[in-house]
Amino acid sequence: MVVPGSQHIEDKMYHPPEGLQKDAHVPDFNCYLELYKKSIEEPDVFWKEVASDFYWKKPPTGQILQYNFDVTKGNIYVKCMEGATTNMCYNVLDRNVKDKNLGERVAFYWEGNSPDHHEAITYGQLLGQVCRCSNTLKQMGVRKGDRVAIYLPMIPELVYTMLACTRIGAVHSIVFAGFSAESLCERIMDSQCSILVTADGVYRGEKLINLKQIADEALEKCREKASATVTRCLVVKHHALRTQDGDSSVNLTPVVFPVVQTPWDAACDVCWEEVMGQVSEQCEPEWLDAEDPLFILYTSGSTGKPKGVLHTVAGYLLYTSLTFKYVFDHQPDDVYWCTADIGWITGHSYITYGPLANGATSVLFEGIPVHPHVGRFWEVIEKYRVTKFYTAPTAIRLLMKYGLDPVQKYDLSSLRILGTVGEPINPEAWHWYHEVIGQKRCPVVDTFWQTETGGHVLTPLPAATPLKPGSAVSYHHIYIHRVHSVFSREPRSGLLLQVFRRPWPGIMRTVYGNQERFESTYFKKFPGFYVTGDGCRRDKDGYYWIAGRIDDMINVSGHLLSTAEVEASLTDHGAVAEAAVVSRPHAVKGECLYCFVTLKDCREFNRTLVDELKRQVREKIGPIATPDFIQNAPGLPKTRSGKIMRRVLRQIARNEKDLGDLSTMADPKVVEVLFNHRCETA
Ligand code: WT7
Repeated sequence: MVVPGSQHIEDKMYHPPEGLQKDAHVPDFNCYLELYKKSIEEPDVFWKEVASDFYWKKPPTGQILQYNFDVTKGNIYVKCMEGATTNMCYNVLDRNVKDKNLGERVAFYWEGNSPDHHEAITYGQLLGQVCRCSNTLKQMGVRKGDRVAIYLPMIPELVYTMLACTRIGAVHSIVFAGFSAESLCERIMDSQCSILVTADGVYRGEKLINLKQIADEALEKCREKASATVTRCLVVKHHALRTQDGDSSVNLTPVVFPVVQTPWDAACDVCWEEVMGQVSEQCEPEWLDAEDPLFILYTSGSTGKPKGVLHTVAGYLLYTSLTFKYVFDHQPDDVYWCTADIGWITGHSYITYGPLANGATSVLFEGIPVHPHVGRFWEVIEKYRVTKFYTAPTAIRLLMKYGLDPVQKYDLSSLRILGTVGEPINPEAWHWYHEVIGQKRCPVVDTFWQTETGGHVLTPLPAATPLKPGSAVSYHHIYIHRVHSVFSREPRSGLLLQVFRRPWPGIMRTVYGNQERFESTYFKKFPGFYVTGDGCRRDKDGYYWIAGRIDDMINVSGHLLSTAEVEASLTDHGAVAEAAVVSRPHAVKGECLYCFVTLKDCREFNRTLVDELKRQVREKIGPIATPDFIQNAPGLPKTRSGKIMRRVLRQIARNEKDLGDLSTMADPKVVEVLFNHRCETA
């Protein structure tokens, strides 16, 4: 894979198609520049206009954006629409149903893991279900400000629950349903959630995952840690009611469906289907302050402990709605599909909030790209006539491997705009996406952002920005125009460090319960700036190429993992004395985990141990963190002061023989030993 930004920078520009420009919200480059100027010079006017699309119970009292980004001048803060009161759920549902008369419009086409399972949900129906769920949560004791943990797969109930939280002023904390019991427990404890919402089980491809069992284990772990906070668990019978009675795509022989014996504790567990039928379809929204918390979402932190990124009501609403509208050039007849999971920020911002705020019709997909066949994505695009499609480079690289046949079976002529997110896209994948999927007709918007930024911060606009294949965004085309982006030089690597001088409404407000960590992670390094943690390069045309993390984070299939967290789960094993984890390029995942382990005396390194260690990491963190390589390291390269030299380990993992200056290394002999023990294959 070509590392974006290092070489192979293409000069060829791809210009926006004229057909798209005609009716676009931002039809050309000049129009973009005007918007950009306005957002910088008159941010109040710019954001007031955006806010005028929404309902405010009380208007703001001061300036729309107030902030301090300079640690030397006091606490870091950002406030948006101070003094105003509103409700997220009211704005994305009631306003569409009542004021805009969109009650009959489809909000979601839910498409199950199996093509046999699907359901269309209108805005009117969605509002009804969300109100029922709001009443259910209230009945279970949830009050404004309480945290609700959600551990659900990609089913409509996930959207109902998150919106119900926002309706009653509760703060949702969604944990991706691929995380382990331990990870779920850690997140529940950190934000002291009072309720957990989960499902009995779910098929991911052909694999049945017993979510309730994992959830119970997590709650048990919380109890062991004494300060258990969850009092009730609301359980959706998804597997029992939706999928157990027949699924032609799951290939079990003989065709018998395993009955999940859902563990049940009547003192704690509440059955979704039972309670939802007993409550009213009406629920008054709770009017919240603009800066009240909306949700917490955990993201990996370089110290190993995940950070609870906190987003607030008004700013997040303005930001996700605006970026969705402009970046995907949303039009009323669109059918939009983002393939992410709502358990990640991409799903929060661009499956739930951004699209619903715009009254969009979206696909909500439970499945995986290769089930029941490798053409599933293209089949779904044809089925719903998808016009805007948003996915990750790792999915593109995976599907590229199967060649043209699975694509050519389907009619993709409805597509108008393609998007990518999560990691740099290599030019080869970009071209395949553009030519084979977009049939050279659709611009590819490569959107750079983070859990912390809440929405896109660097991206082309489809009708206004000439594109360069392979993750490139020109400085001038940086979309979030009111953000002055400044790139300071990192002395060592020659990379530019990406920082932002001004806030935008959707930026995180704090790390939940840890303002100190918020300030030291993002604002201490360069006082006056928000530091993303990514490096980038600038080419002669002024285009910026994101070059990946400059800290100890590894991006596996578009998900950030902390090396410290993986190391901690390896050293938890009785045989391991020390562990160091680095990244190695991977053809599909982008990067993967390469782990060096030093064993305790008299422990033997063998296949069984490797399997045990892999299992241990998977169980502690979740399947996404499963290491690809585990190598025996009788010794690790360290400086004289005992710091592990990760640069050297990265080079060994990649089999790069020229290690450069090793003069700071305490014992250079370990290098040769490590080369001898290298793993070639996973
Ligand atoms: C990190 C944030 C934002 C949703 C998914 C990930 C990397 C994200 C791109 C892109 C190059 C990208 C960065 C960033 N990243 N998008 N288009 N090109 N790199 O959210 O887990 O918070 O990860 O993902 O390294 O810092 P996240």
